[in-house]
Amino acid sequence: MELIVARNREGLLKARTGGEVALVPTMGALHEGHRSLIRLARTRADQVVVSIFVNPLQFGPTEDFSRYPRTFDADLEVCRAEGVDVVFHPSAEDIYLPDRQVSVHSGRMGEIVEGAARPGHFDGVLTVVLKLFNLVQPHVAIFGQKDAQQLAMIRRMVADLDVPVEIVGAPTVREPDGLALSSRNRYLTAEDRQVALALSRALHKGAAEPTPSRIRAAAREILDAAGPRLFVDYLVLVDPATFAEVGESHAGPAVLAVAATVGTTRLIDNVTLTLNPA
Ligand code: PAF
Repeated sequence: MELIVARNREGLLKARTGGEVALVPTMGALHEGHRSLIRLARTRADQVVVSIFVNPLQFGPTEDFSRYPRTFDADLEVCRAEGVDVVFHPSAEDIYLPDRQVSVHSGRMGEIVEGAARPGHFDGVLTVVLKLFNLVQPHVAIFGQKDAQQLAMIRRMVADLDVPVEIVGAPTVREPDGLALSSRNRYLTAEDRQVALALSRALHKGAAEPTPSRIRAAAREILDAAGPRLFVDYLVLVDPATFAEVGESHAGPAVLAVAATVGTTRLIDNVTLTLNPA
């Protein structure tokens, strides 16, 4: 089947073939991590739609919106190779009305952890994701676990607003040395890339410990030893659904999440672990 590129609602409607639709929302600069989301989408539906849209609403005024990698031709090749049916590639004007008023508010959960570091970020993410759901009308949507709080917030929005879509989280894909794949990795110099390995090493070391205090301390030790080019934004051990910090007696799944700037590149990573298993 020929890959269809749709730029607006009409294009999407024309591309529909009937059957179940899986959506993989992306901002492009597609890498192996995105390929794994697309492959998972393929197992879940008859038609796979990949959206490629660098959403201005989710970037703060000092963030990397203008320099965010835009590699549309290469992204199309990835989608072709992965057998994607439709690429939805709107412009900002296609997505946002010039006089738009209403947006999604991510609530208290959107103001903690990653939301505290990036005010307004989750409002921007949820607004565009809801719009993508309304435009594409997927049965299922696939998001990477690397953006663990984003995934939790999208699940929250779908539950709170009764959005008729199933949300599926997909495991983080890593380089052989542990670095989590990210479109922003391409900003790293060779030296910074070595420093960035401290994130996955810290998570790995922390996850091997038995209690929240020891998990946090073990991870922190690795980050502190990484040198002055690594600036830690946060290191938290949180409930995967609420992103509230877990206490010493917490039982069940928890997410150990880190955000750090390496040189000029901000990176995030996380692992899920189980505390006090019965
Ligand atoms: O994870 C991303 O790439 C973006 O936050 C998303 C979900 C495509 C919304 O712009």
